[in-house]
Amino acid sequence: MIDPFSFIVVVACSATALLVTLKLIPVVSQWTLKADLWGYDLNKGHPKDGKERVKVPETMGIVPSIIYLLCLIFFQLFFPDSKSLATWNAALASIGFTVLLGFVDDVLELRWRYKLILPAFASLPLVMAYNVTGGTTKVVFPSFMADIVGFSTLNIGLLHLVYIDLLSIFASNSINIYAGINGLEVGQSMIIALFIAAYNIICMLQGSNTEESAFISDAAQFSLYVVIPFIFVSAGLFIFNRYPSCVFIGDTYTYFAGMVLAVAGILGHFSKSLLVLFIPQLINFTLSLPQLVGIVPCPRHRLPRYDPADGKLHAVKNHLTLINFALRLTGPMEERTICHVLLGFQVACCSAGLAFMLWAKGL
Ligand code: UD1
Ligand code: MG
Repeated sequence: MIDPFSFIVVVACSATALLVTLKLIPVVSQWTLKADLWGYDLNKGHPKDGKERVKVPETMGIVPSIIYLLCLIFFQLFFPDSKSLATWNAALASIGFTVLLGFVDDVLELRWRYKLILPAFASLPLVMAYNVTGGTTKVVFPSFMADIVGFSTLNIGLLHLVYIDLLSIFASNSINIYAGINGLEVGQSMIIALFIAAYNIICMLQGSNTEESAFISDAAQFSLYVVIPFIFVSAGLFIFNRYPSCVFIGDTYTYFAGMVLAVAGILGHFSKSLLVLFIPQLINFTLSLPQLVGIVPCPRHRLPRYDPADGKLHAVKNHLTLINFALRLTGPMEERTICHVLLGFQVACCSAGLAFMLWAKGL
């Protein structure tokens, strides 16, 4: 069952967080410009095409992420027993550490191979707490698989902790590399978070009074309260970052978003099935692998090509990304349109993923 009091407080607090985000972004963007943290919007032309490039304030993920952390600190009130509180604090430490490392990356412009492993360190507080507080390291098979393998749970011990660490690396980096057109990073993260929220709410509404379902319901509540403030602060950031971007979000946001989604999956005890909500990211990651491992050269940016003649984005064949692949299928499109198409694809994939998660759980 959903606890109505805490749910209302969490939503009210998150709505306030949205208002604060909307208020602060214009202020902080002036500060980041002054601190020389800005980027050119690469899909809007070049002086040689007769178009002046504008400096867009960077690293604006710092605003929603700090406001989000304050919400999580406040929500500790709802987890009074020491075990839940320890797990909640570990989640807070992991997400806070991620924000710090993302910001360091934005300021110092770290090299690609260092960027890749930052989330591995950031998720350590959660991995440790999971171990100490006796978080389950069992894999629970959905019933159709249990029938095939002959048992319903398997304890994979340490391997599960390694998996948690790898999941944080994947979630953060897969969002960070599915990027480069206005609004895509924030849009995809918000959609995944909305589907996680929907999954948790359905799990909680299905809860009865047995001990097992009380455990599932607690986990779902943890996970729900992790994503609700995230959805609200991200919506605030999206208003400024959608086409045409007034601010860029920086790796501060992409790592933060990936870690929040991974934490939601881990605390909700669906860290394996979480991946079915990341289908576009998995496709983009797989397409990118030859460039990520260095078989094909990987330039600093793998964006489509903006053509000032038609104002559209054109596919660049040797940039192995889902954005370029989609543009090859559909033909050239305006930046706003291709973003909508890709976010529509995200919704379609997440809907199928959610249906799979509910089916695998027998709901
Ligand atoms: C990742 C991608 C890179 C992509 C970049 C865009 C890989 C391995 N890396 O790098 O290919 O080009 O994200 O974010 O796939 N920018 C725009 N328009 C946008 C968003 C970003 O022009 O809508 C440009 C701006 O100049 C901005 C910069 O990209 O300053 C930010 O890039 P950053 O997030 O630091 O790139 P990476 O995450 O390293
Ligand atoms: Mg980035």
